[in-house]
Amino acid sequence: MGQIIQFTGLSGTGKTTLSGALLEWGNLHGIKIKLIDGDIYRQTLCKDLGFSKADRLENISRLGAYAAAIAADYDYVFIAAINPYEEGRNNLKVRYSAALIWLKCSLQALIQRDPKGLYRKALLPDSHPEKIHNLTGLNDTFEEPLHPDLILDTGSLSVEDCLTTTITFLKTQMAHFI
Ligand code: ADX
Repeated sequence: MGQIIQFTGLSGTGKTTLSGALLEWGNLHGIKIKLIDGDIYRQTLCKDLGFSKADRLENISRLGAYAAAIAADYDYVFIAAINPYEEGRNNLKVRYSAALIWLKCSLQALIQRDPKGLYRKALLPDSHPEKIHNLTGLNDTFEEPLHPDLILDTGSLSVEDCLTTTITFLKTQMAHFI
């Protein structure tokens, strides 16, 4: 049975980048990893969901159930979504023993990076037609995890550093299950 790892972190903190690097590492070392990326599943399995609290909780609940359904075929299943609520994260921990990795970065740095232009849109005046009114971290809730298994400060660590730290962590998780 593969270990489920849930990421949490604001948009732009590097969840997809780190997951991609981990997939490459897995390919090189014969470690089977499945990546469930929130952005992608919001176009399929979770296409009907928006960004209310209830919908975000439903989103992570479905991603968790899917991860559990396929976990037997992998060494690790990663869930890379913003995953902003303790309730959702705790549910995955209780139901599936999913470990929690928090990718942490200051809002200031995220606003500067803004690869998708989401922060710019959230900072527009209320009357602007492109304004995003519920962007996590700016004008919607992100509950800081109380009990993360690993914290990565992606504002100061390089992708390489995050990768090395995460690999070390994954190995301890594996040892835990042997
Ligand atoms: S979650 O909050 O339900 O876990 P999820 O990770 O699936 O979110 O989706 C987040 C992605 O949706 C972001 O990367 C971004 O591209 C897009 N998005 C669109 N609107 C919002 C919003 N209001 N808040 C957060 N992300 C948004």
